[in-house]
Amino acid sequence: MNIDSSKTSPATSAFESHAGRGRFNAAFFRLMDSYIERKLRQHKKRVFAGLSNTVVEIGSGTGANLRYLPDGSTLIAVEPNRYMHGPLRAVAQRAGVRLDLLDRMAEQSGLPDHSVDTVISSLVLCTVQDPDAVLAEIRRILRPGGTFRFVEHVAAKEGTATRTAQRLLRRPWAWTFEGCSCERDLEHSVRAAGFESVTILPYRIHTPFLPFNTQIAGMARA
Ligand SMILES: C[S@@+](CC[C@H](N)C(=O)[O-])C[C@H]1O[C@@H](n2cnc3c(N)ncnc32)[C@H](O)[C@@H]1O
Repeated sequence: MNIDSSKTSPATSAFESHAGRGRFNAAFFRLMDSYIERKLRQHKKRVFAGLSNTVVEIGSGTGANLRYLPDGSTLIAVEPNRYMHGPLRAVAQRAGVRLDLLDRMAEQSGLPDHSVDTVISSLVLCTVQDPDAVLAEIRRILRPGGTFRFVEHVAAKEGTATRTAQRLLRRPWAWTFEGCSCERDLEHSVRAAGFESVTILPYRIHTPFLPFNTQIAGMARA
């Protein structure tokens, strides 16, 4: 696949990873991997079922979703945080997944128009700078009929205790998790992004990380 490297510089340079928090997040997601997996497995198994042999993932982090890729498959990982790269490479090697790591932001992947069948994400649209631009980019690179499959955490309904906690904790949450917002209406964003069809299941998990507990999982078809 031809990847347009002229699109690398602006997108990569716009991503700022803090040395301390970048390392903390890489360690946090490795350490919490099996805990988060237990909480999200039921939903990931459903939306990541039957993935194609080549998958583009935005914000792969430390490789939480490699367990859902078919044996011997290729992952094109769009991951601008260099502190994630070492653990991601190690997980890919252990999983026998061929890794094509793109050190750039998902707003500008550099991948050709209509070139991929499947894009996946988990817990990423909360963190990207511009979710609408990322969704437009996903639509641009998907072939007609290709799918975007996602598991994301979202804003709780107004008037709930979780929504109040999300409001109160938004600043320390965003600081700790490098820009992550617990206040995005991502169901609306995906539905408004111009996909041919969208299926979304909202659900709730139960963790001490209260702002994280309201989630959606789904599939959007280009
Ligand atoms: C909360 S972590 C989730 C990682 C992984 N998907 C998981 O489920 O464990 C968010 C990830 O999104 C990445 N990220 C942040 N901004 C991004 C952007 N603009 N484009 C692509 N990835 C981005 C971060 O570097 C981080 O790896």
